[in-house]
Amino acid sequence: MKDAVATAPEPPGRSPAQALFRRLFVINALVFAAGTFVLALSPATVSSPVLLAEVPVLLIGLALILAANAFLVRASLAPLTSLTALMRRVDLMHTHDRLPVVGNRDLRSVTDTFNQMLDRLEEERSVASAQALAAQEAERGRIARELHDEIGQSLTVALLALKRVRDRGPAELSEELGHAQEAIRTSLDEVRQVAHRLRPGVLEDLGLTSALTALATDLSQTGTVEVSRRLAPGLPPLTSEVELVLYRIAQESLTNVARHAQATRATLTLTPERGDLVLRVTDNGRGGIGEPGAGIRGMHERALLIGARLNVHSPPGGGTEITLTVPGAAKEDAP
Ligand SMILES: Nc1ncnc2c1ncn2[C@@H]1O[C@H](COP(=O)(O)OP(=O)(O)OP(=O)(O)O)[C@@H](O)[C@H]1O
Ligand SMILES: [Mg+2]
Repeated sequence: MKDAVATAPEPPGRSPAQALFRRLFVINALVFAAGTFVLALSPATVSSPVLLAEVPVLLIGLALILAANAFLVRASLAPLTSLTALMRRVDLMHTHDRLPVVGNRDLRSVTDTFNQMLDRLEEERSVASAQALAAQEAERGRIARELHDEIGQSLTVALLALKRVRDRGPAELSEELGHAQEAIRTSLDEVRQVAHRLRPGVLEDLGLTSALTALATDLSQTGTVEVSRRLAPGLPPLTSEVELVLYRIAQESLTNVARHAQATRATLTLTPERGDLVLRVTDNGRGGIGEPGAGIRGMHERALLIGARLNVHSPPGGGTEITLTVPGAAKEDAP
């Protein structure tokens, strides 16, 4: 990945602003020259002071000049309307939204400059989000290690101490100490599970299919949502970056189902579709996702990192479907 963002090359010759000024000036000059020429050749005369009968002729002449000017300037600037529309709608989360380079040479140069600016912004955004996501993964790894090494160790020590006290202490305290041991054991399990989920290494330990299965099982075990999964076997090997993106997007989508959807059923599928690899998480909950939060924005950014498309379909009352399409990843010769 490049760590510096390229700057736009200086276009040779005139700047787009100078070129546009020249074009408008030439149009105006031509219109006024034509008007003057017609006036010179026509039999019409203008007296001083102007006679009442001459006013309509002057007004018609003026209207013709203005109409011709408006027509030519408008035709010349028409591509600016689509440029403005693109500026309003452009969304850096959806790459390659570019304006077709059409129109006269000068406007093509404005459009081209704008498209180059989008290229630079997209590259900058993608470098920044790659750095942010790498920092997030590193931080998760650090928290997981600390949970495991610090809190996990302390709980284990407490558990052993309780066992010693229980073995040597009076029999009437045994049951109570047993409950305390049980509570600490449950906390230890939870800490281990959280540490395990946080670690990016979960994929190296389990492999993608088992890691996704574990996510689905975790959600089923909450007892509120029934999760069915279909993870196609025998997929071509994926890069670790693609696997991590698939895992994190499935994780965030299933967490959202548990937290927000009020669903009773959810599905998790990973299937090849016409050479693409498609991860789909659906639920039958309340749907109606409005403003995306950090979770959904993070999913979009992760998808962009591997050149995948993320689609969120969530009509109110109609459940939610999150689809991640990784182009070409299910082809046999995929990298
Ligand atoms: N499966 C879903 N069903 C219904 N609403 C959802 C679902 N997923 C997300 N939402 C809605 O979309 C909002 C944004 O979700 P997002 O994951 O971006 O943020 P969050 O879950 O609120 O916070 P974070 O993921 O940063 O902890 C949620 O607050 C919720 O209202
Ligand atoms: Mg979320």
